[in-house]
Amino acid sequence: MLKFRRKILQASAGFLIAGPMLGQRRALAQTPACEHSFTPHQIEGPYYSPQTPRRSNLVDGLRGELLVLEGRVLSTSCRPIPNAIVDLWSCDSQGEYDNTGFKLRGHQITDAQGRFRFQTLMPGSYGNSSFRRTPHLHVKVQAPASPLLTTQLYFPDQPLNQRDGFFNPALLVKIKEQKQVLTLALFDFVVPVLAKG
Ligand SMILES: [Fe+2]
Repeated sequence: MLKFRRKILQASAGFLIAGPMLGQRRALAQTPACEHSFTPHQIEGPYYSPQTPRRSNLVDGLRGELLVLEGRVLSTSCRPIPNAIVDLWSCDSQGEYDNTGFKLRGHQITDAQGRFRFQTLMPGSYGNSSFRRTPHLHVKVQAPASPLLTTQLYFPDQPLNQRDGFFNPALLVKIKEQKQVLTLALFDFVVPVLAKG
């Protein structure tokens, strides 16, 4: 876990884009309401790339429906966690991952209020007729003094949700706004904070 954090921070110091985080002026609704339960873990899957760029806009000129994902990293007592790494990756609208570069991949470090914000694309589905993944985002969250959380996020009302064995309704984003080509989604991660020993 610490190795992951160290690796990604080292990468941040190098070629990464350290742009200011956008859209952090308003308070976000908690999604889900802050509960004393952790965000569930899910498998990493085969397409994770380490040392992603630190940036908020992951689109890199790709075409598709824009998706803005906003949220916070919180402790189980609902305290915002600053300096948590939130590393996001997903496929494009055709279900393809960029496994040679960093399109639709990137990480951010939460601000003093535990907030992050990504601009990316709505992912497509992928697989075949016998096994097809519903649209999802992959995320790793490494908060200071917390175990590494690897999980996935899902979208409401997707026809494939109920046919995807990995789908978990506890990992549904909340759709705050949906326009023709833009979706604004919210999700707060809740992670355990280990006591200092
Ligand atoms: Fe995936």
